[in-house]
Amino acid sequence: MNDVVLTGDRPTGPLHLGHYFGSLANRVRLQDAYPMYVLIADYQVITDRDTPGEIRRHTTELLLDYLAIGIDPARVTIFQHSAIPELNQLLLPFLSLVSVAELRRNPTVKDEIAHSSQRAVSGLMFTYPVHQAADILFCKGTLVPVGRDQLPHVEVTRLVARRFNERYGEVFPLPEAMMGEQPLLKGLDGGKMSKSRGNAIALSATEDETAVLIRKARTDSERLITFDEEHRPGVANLLTLAGLCLGRPPRELADEIGDGGAATLKRLTTEAVNEFLRPIRKRRAEFTAADVQRILTEGNAKARERAVLTLDEVRAAMGF
Ligand code: TRP
Repeated sequence: MNDVVLTGDRPTGPLHLGHYFGSLANRVRLQDAYPMYVLIADYQVITDRDTPGEIRRHTTELLLDYLAIGIDPARVTIFQHSAIPELNQLLLPFLSLVSVAELRRNPTVKDEIAHSSQRAVSGLMFTYPVHQAADILFCKGTLVPVGRDQLPHVEVTRLVARRFNERYGEVFPLPEAMMGEQPLLKGLDGGKMSKSRGNAIALSATEDETAVLIRKARTDSERLITFDEEHRPGVANLLTLAGLCLGRPPRELADEIGDGGAATLKRLTTEAVNEFLRPIRKRRAEFTAADVQRILTEGNAKARERAVLTLDEVRAAMGF
């Protein structure tokens, strides 16, 4: 079988180094091996908040993040939910294939409801995993690079595909999740790295912003720098970050810093991150607003062509 990769992100804010080392770097590798679709999941933004917010700005920035890290729009189809009516229409037959009990059982949805600040849980919160099945199946995606929290959604997708095929004949492949490594990086305050907590280095951060964030990072006052994730998590996290940027083992960096203390560690980390981000910043600056618009228009047109074919096939299989 010829594999097709599909993955995506909600456009809610800039991507950061945690995203990069957790999943984006892998995408850049995958584009060499497979046909690939990358979805800017704009309709999914309103699952856990009342409005899409600054959706246009976030969409543009997400696309620029992709381009800056080296996703090649000549090979990869980058597109948005809101531009592909035929993808969205798949939601209707797909919803008929799952029970309310199954929707309620989804552990990621449960977790998101528990952490949501919304006063009422919307119907979309329970049904967006089925919409995500449409994201994956509209292009007959077979490989879905995602983090652990997305595994239940890939299971829903497999369920939808299997039931559709049983009821209406063989149309969809059963996609597989491709699990990335677990996130190696914590936020600079020791919590989960997240843009909203101000503890993450965005791929679009300037040199100065990077320096300020690392200067504020939590460490300790011991002079001798050692890599000890359990007892010195802040120090270990900076060593991990610098190590990822330099492609070197964190322990080796610790030995090199020796008794230079947190100041030396932070200086080394700042230089490593800025060095690493330099080509990414350079590539970002090469794209004009007009380029971004054209790339999105072309990606949407290509994705839409694919979606039209699949929806036709679905309607025919169902006897409409
Ligand atoms: N739910 C994913 C996230 O929040 C984004 C997403 C939407 C996605 N549709 C997808 C990921 C399809 C993989 C495949 O990160």
